[in-house]
Amino acid sequence: MTEIRSPSGRPYFVSSEIGRGGFGVVVAASDKSGAKLAIKFRCVPQAGLELRRVAERELAPWVSGGYHPNIVTIRDWFVCQGQWLAIVMERAQGSLADQLNAGASFEAWRVCDIGGQALLGLNRLHSLGYVHMDVRPCNLLRFPDGVIKLSDFGIVKDLFAPDCGACECTCYESYKPPEVLLGGRGAARIQCDVYQLGMTLLTLMLGRSVIPSWASAMQKRRMILDGVPRTAAEQIAAGHSRYAPVASVVAIMLRRRWIWRHANCLDMAHWFIGTSRTLLQRHLFDDGMLPSN
Ligand SMILES: Nc1ncnc2c1ncn2[C@@H]1O[C@H](COP(=O)(O)OP(=O)(O)OP(=O)(O)O)[C@@H](O)[C@H]1O
Ligand SMILES: [Mg+2]
Repeated sequence: MTEIRSPSGRPYFVSSEIGRGGFGVVVAASDKSGAKLAIKFRCVPQAGLELRRVAERELAPWVSGGYHPNIVTIRDWFVCQGQWLAIVMERAQGSLADQLNAGASFEAWRVCDIGGQALLGLNRLHSLGYVHMDVRPCNLLRFPDGVIKLSDFGIVKDLFAPDCGACECTCYESYKPPEVLLGGRGAARIQCDVYQLGMTLLTLMLGRSVIPSWASAMQKRRMILDGVPRTAAEQIAAGHSRYAPVASVVAIMLRRRWIWRHANCLDMAHWFIGTSRTLLQRHLFDDGMLPSN
């Protein structure tokens, strides 16, 4: 166990590495009280103004909004050795990506439940004036009792200054909304997050991404612009599986033109939460765990 101290003298005890992403490393840690924490060390090669910009994005919901049950809580942050931004967070059990990689399957009620929780987190972020732009299974973290929290704000965009920079180069390839692929500048809108959450929920229903990881950047672009994700959701919606009602809403989230997608995450969250309850009851009833009264 290694001890590190924030510049203000607060000690943190680092135990092991949790994982690595494109911009840094996340480690398991604890504080003096024994609270389970995770520290993300985000590399910022250029100190000064660049470091300030990165910190402003990574810490956006914490600085401007405080606590929300569906947004990962940031406890502290500091700069290490001039070029590392250390973000101290509550520690999750893992992400939805870990579960997918382990071959887990997600019941329809759970897909709906995850959608509802993610939408509540997104709604808070949007009300603070930001779009996430990186909603993917690896950035939806799992906590006890099925709680899902939105994390990783490294490429958030300011909703009120949507021309602040091209999104094209930053979003993850398979999750790029069509308007981001086509336009780039000025494409950051609430509907981008809605599209990416639609892709995430479709991935949970299928157990894999509809855009294969082996496809070239050109092929991925073609599939997105041809509306392959929306067609896949429509096919599930037309079937008789338990996923059909969720898939019909996901198909709307995945429409190619942003103007035809939902824009109100709170209304959608209510639908998802209500539908999740109904589906769970049906699931328990079908499995003989609820009496037919
Ligand atoms: N608060 C947290 N608690 C527990 N694990 C976390 C926490 N934050 C991130 N992780 C895990 O740490 C790993 C690295 O996360 P990171 O956000 O750096 O990259 P990523 O989301 O996997 O990929 P990318 O860099 O492409 O966004 C992931 O496995 C993620 O699930
Ligand atoms: Mg991440």
